[in-house]
Amino acid sequence: MNLTYRPRRLRGNDAVRHLCRETRMSPDSLIYPIFVDETLQGVRPIEALPGQNHYGLDSVCQAVEECLANGVTHCILFGLPAHKDAIGSSAWDEHGVVQEAIRTIKAKYPDFYVITDVCMCEYTDHGHCGILCGHEVDNDQTLEVLAKTALSHVQAGADMVAPSDMMDGRVAAIRAILDEHGYTATPIMAYSAKYASAFYGPFRAAAGSAPSFGDRKGYQMDPHNRKEALKECALDIEEGADIIMVKPALSYLDVIRECSDAYDLPMCAYQVSGEYAMIKTAAAAGLIDEYRIMCESALSVFRAGANMLITYYAKELAQAIRSGY
Ligand code: PBG
Ligand code: ZN
Repeated sequence: MNLTYRPRRLRGNDAVRHLCRETRMSPDSLIYPIFVDETLQGVRPIEALPGQNHYGLDSVCQAVEECLANGVTHCILFGLPAHKDAIGSSAWDEHGVVQEAIRTIKAKYPDFYVITDVCMCEYTDHGHCGILCGHEVDNDQTLEVLAKTALSHVQAGADMVAPSDMMDGRVAAIRAILDEHGYTATPIMAYSAKYASAFYGPFRAAAGSAPSFGDRKGYQMDPHNRKEALKECALDIEEGADIIMVKPALSYLDVIRECSDAYDLPMCAYQVSGEYAMIKTAAAAGLIDEYRIMCESALSVFRAGANMLITYYAKELAQAIRSGY
């Protein structure tokens, strides 16, 4: 046969395949979620997320050491406070669980990069992501507490803050309070296109943050929408976001592609708890190859245009990348 093009020429062996790769993953671009529980001493496995742990303040450095041992150098912190109330006042407590976790980590590992999730749902007794007015979350009142919370994280030493509440105007409010206090160099990673997703189920069990009534459809995005994601990113960028995010990842690869084509900011994607749990349980049932599915699903997110990935598989993935996946 006289074929001019034989694409298989570039598929013949690892050497040429690796040479021609269009997408490359690196441990640098992985972010590991760490759950810190104020009421806990030591480490406790999270039932809803097989393979993941809650860490007490006395053992949060162990979580960091596990990251570093695998080549993961970035984390995002989630707090489980001892006290909850209607306005989520523990969220901005100078000695709150996240603030203390940051200080503990930074005292021992000043170079370990600490991002904090900024939201109210772990801190409110009703589990909604802001301050209620009747049965609705009041947008503008919530902005004040989000801003105070973000500031308290940065004052405790956080390297970056990541608001995940989906209130309108939160990036502007956080940028303003950080700048006012001299933190002009601290970046904001906005959960810009965060959908009202069933994939957050295991996280809410793990973080104790499920809403006690209703749902989050009044503030998180409707999964039917695509253009709205572009709008949300555009607003966050106008308000001063440094990094935009799409969440969840695997069911929203089209949105990741579109937003990364449309904007010149670095883009993060969050492979959420339900995505992780599906892989974990299917693998435990012997139905899929966990290692290969973990690698391939992460790769798809980067191929879609994400520059970084928050994933519960960060440590295993970093290991896989280092050993030549
Ligand atoms: C807080 C928050 C949630 C997640 C990250 N930050 C839960 C929610 O919005 O209900 C989900 C992460 C995951 O499922 O892994 N608002
Ligand atoms: Zn929330």
